Amino acid sequence: MKILGIDVGGTGIKGAVVETTTGELISERLRVASPQPATPESVSNTIQGLVAQQHWSGPIGIGFPAAIQHGVARTAANIDSTFIGLSVADYLSAQIGYPVWVANDADVAGLAEMRFGAGRGVSGVVLIITIGTGLGTALFSDGHLLPNTELGHILLDNGSEAEHYASEAVRDTQKLKWKEWGDRFNRYLITMENLFWPDLIILGGGASKKLPKYASRITVQTPVIPAHFLNQAGIIGAALFAEESLKTTSLNQP
Ligand code: BGC
Repeated sequence: MKILGIDVGGTGIKGAVVETTTGELISERLRVASPQPATPESVSNTIQGLVAQQHWSGPIGIGFPAAIQHGVARTAANIDSTFIGLSVADYLSAQIGYPVWVANDADVAGLAEMRFGAGRGVSGVVLIITIGTGLGTALFSDGHLLPNTELGHILLDNGSEAEHYASEAVRDTQKLKWKEWGDRFNRYLITMENLFWPDLIILGGGASKKLPKYASRITVQTPVIPAHFLNQAGIIGAALFAEESLKTTSLNQP
């Protein structure tokens, strides 16, 4: 099935048409800057622009940088706080005029990796960490997702909030060298390991492509590997999530 997958991030909104049976992108991947401030109206306008650029009419899946409980945004660390309490799925469906399904961005990236990527066939506990403007997390046990874990906001042993200490945005703004940032990120990985004892950690987002530059700083015993889809996992997973939701909806219909 073909679905438009969209990944809403703190700095960019990306989208492509995905063939959900294979996880392949079957259109060009387009990226536009996230509007500032990222209010429901401005984000919706930007997404509508992307839908038009893709000449798309049909179902849309969106990975969104917030805890999303049954379509409703519960947090807003890197988007405007007016999203909190809004049914992002209903709002965007009404604005765009096509059915829209919304879930947390890291959760959907995790779905893509578990179905077609680096986590395919892996049982036990798998932690996916997306490194971008924030730190996103998706936690799977035997392939089942525990949604909205929000572990990028955990406090580290130095009192810092993890995503304010070891995100890609922090590396950029503080102009940290890869190894310096790698030490910070390793502190985060140690915290995750001590709490969850995962069997595998998969890294997504921009910094996943650069793993060789900081791999020497990683000391956890859990294997740490880059996402197969690198920073495209969010787009693919958003489409997979929409497909799953579509199936459930039609199954539930009389
Ligand atoms: C948000 C998460 C999101 C992550 C990555 C965090 O600031 O709270 O919901 O998954 O950033 O975008």
